Amino acid sequence: DAKNLLFLPGDGIGPEVMGQVRKIIEWLTKNRSVNFNLSEGLVGGACYEAHKCAVTDETVQDAMDADAVMLGAVGGPQWDNVERHARPEAGLLRLRKEMDLFANLRPAVVFDALVDSSTLKNEIVQGLDIMILRELTSGVYFGEPRGVEDLPGGGQKGFDTQVYTDAEIIRAAHVAFDLAKKRGGKVHSVEKANVMESGKFWREVVTKLHAEQYSDIKLEHMYADNCAMQLVRNPKQFDVILTDNLFGDLLSDCAAMLTGSLGMLPSASLSGKDENGKVRAMYEPVHGSAPDIAGQDLANPLATILSFSMCLRYSFNMAAEADLLDQGVQNVLGAGVRTGDIMQDGMKAIGCAAMGDALIAE
Ligand code: NAI
Ligand code: MG
Repeated sequence: DAKNLLFLPGDGIGPEVMGQVRKIIEWLTKNRSVNFNLSEGLVGGACYEAHKCAVTDETVQDAMDADAVMLGAVGGPQWDNVERHARPEAGLLRLRKEMDLFANLRPAVVFDALVDSSTLKNEIVQGLDIMILRELTSGVYFGEPRGVEDLPGGGQKGFDTQVYTDAEIIRAAHVAFDLAKKRGGKVHSVEKANVMESGKFWREVVTKLHAEQYSDIKLEHMYADNCAMQLVRNPKQFDVILTDNLFGDLLSDCAAMLTGSLGMLPSASLSGKDENGKVRAMYEPVHGSAPDIAGQDLANPLATILSFSMCLRYSFNMAAEADLLDQGVQNVLGAGVRTGDIMQDGMKAIGCAAMGDALIAE
């Protein structure tokens, strides 16, 4: 049966990098007899130009109904002065919220051929393959009450609230443990149980779930500040890192820099199972719309292509095809094929479309 895939190319380099995924889809359709039912929609500035909003109700519904959504990137200077609710990022936020994408998966993988682009010494990052699971829809970014208020004795206070329910922690932890099962069998649960009540609660809930359902997985608890240090000191000790929204924001950016190449970083955002057992999902590169190089065939499409590989793996249950794609990326990099952003001395940079073609050839 056909896989329903919604394409939201967005702005800037979004359409260019998504065009390379289209080539992969055509190849898979021809050579692996997989059926994709591909539809396309507008998001971000592209949607604003057509409808004066960042995403339409219909597109949100299409995203809810699809088996998976592939998104390019949104934004650009021409929409900087648009009213807040219609700004490009508002489209992304609305999709994440309405699809209830609480599990944000950010792998940090160091490809052998690109080990020199890491900010760390080669021996520390060679072969690195970790997965950060960041809770994306709760915690201090969403907690109430929040605001700025006058104090009775004069002066003011600014405040936010961190709230995590047991259900929110459990559903994120399930995803982390299930990922670990298919990977290295180890989860580090990261919080600040030493100074935060919500952190202490997080640790209790994860510990209980682990004992009840995942005792075959190795679980370690780590304070977030220590985790930041360990990511830089010895990142290969990690397999899956499970953490909240705020710490996940920081730690995933830190882990991204271990790999050193923004144009290589994919991501997935997943919901829980709905009443029919369906998981909603959106896959997108970590980078933005790169207005500085848009429209010039200079973008690196590999972050988006690796996001599609995650889509094959997690939404379509096509691990063999995902492995094939990942291996193809390894091979083209190993053969010295480079876009400008990952260029090394003595190599010649090719364009976005040529990178897509090189991967197809491989
Ligand atoms: P950016 O990620 O778009 O670009 C940062 C730098 O990295 C630029 O020099 C760019 O040329 C380069 N770069 C990014 N992706 C690349 C790729 N695939 N290949 C080669 N080089 C690449 O971040 P920036 O400049 O802060 O934001 C630009 C616009 O993108 C803004 O409007 C911002 O709001 C939006 N944005 C959107 C995101 C999304 O759609 N998820 C995420 C981050 C930013
Ligand atoms: Mg961030």
